[in-house]
Amino acid sequence: MARLIGKNKLNCAVFISGRGSNLKSIYNYSKKKKSKIKLNLVISNKSNIEGIRFAKKNRIRTKIIKYKNKIEAEKTILFYLKENNIKFVCLAGYMKILSKYFFRHFKYKIINIHPSLLPKYKGINTHKRAIQNKDKYSGCTVHFVNQKLDSGKPVMKKKVKIFNSDTPKSLAKRILKAENRIYPMAIDKILSKN
Ligand code: GRF
Repeated sequence: MARLIGKNKLNCAVFISGRGSNLKSIYNYSKKKKSKIKLNLVISNKSNIEGIRFAKKNRIRTKIIKYKNKIEAEKTILFYLKENNIKFVCLAGYMKILSKYFFRHFKYKIINIHPSLLPKYKGINTHKRAIQNKDKYSGCTVHFVNQKLDSGKPVMKKKVKIFNSDTPKSLAKRILKAENRIYPMAIDKILSKN
């Protein structure tokens, strides 16, 4: 029976560069009987990070890819994706931008989570910019990844209220909770359509 569980799950890799709270929520989702993915591989450009420690503790295969040369690094990543039969990639705080070369060679879906309501505030310092502009709401977006930064089609968004008392740090903390909640929901939504 155990062998049947997970039979129809899609092999997934998560790319990280840090804390890995979204990795944890994707992992927890992957462990559910009804989840659509199996988390086979974690790719990171850094080794001494919380996300990698979490992956190792939970016996998820990890590969650390150092970037001396972008194409060489991506060739190595592509090799590991193929070796592990990965058919779906989730970027979760991965601080490297994937090149044209990567998109030409990886033909499956790639998604990302971004801490703003895209198309607002692409790039960095999203919370600071939302507060400075006196926005009433910010939030997070799960979106498909293409070659333009934070510009692929959105899959799911979650609004989070900004309070007068908020600092970028307090807002980031509340938005991160929303991120952790919607990332698995977005994966489920995408893969339910297939
Ligand atoms: C998140 O805020 C995500 O939106 C951004 O990077 C952060 C990663 O956090 N792309 P974590 O490593 O998943 O905790």
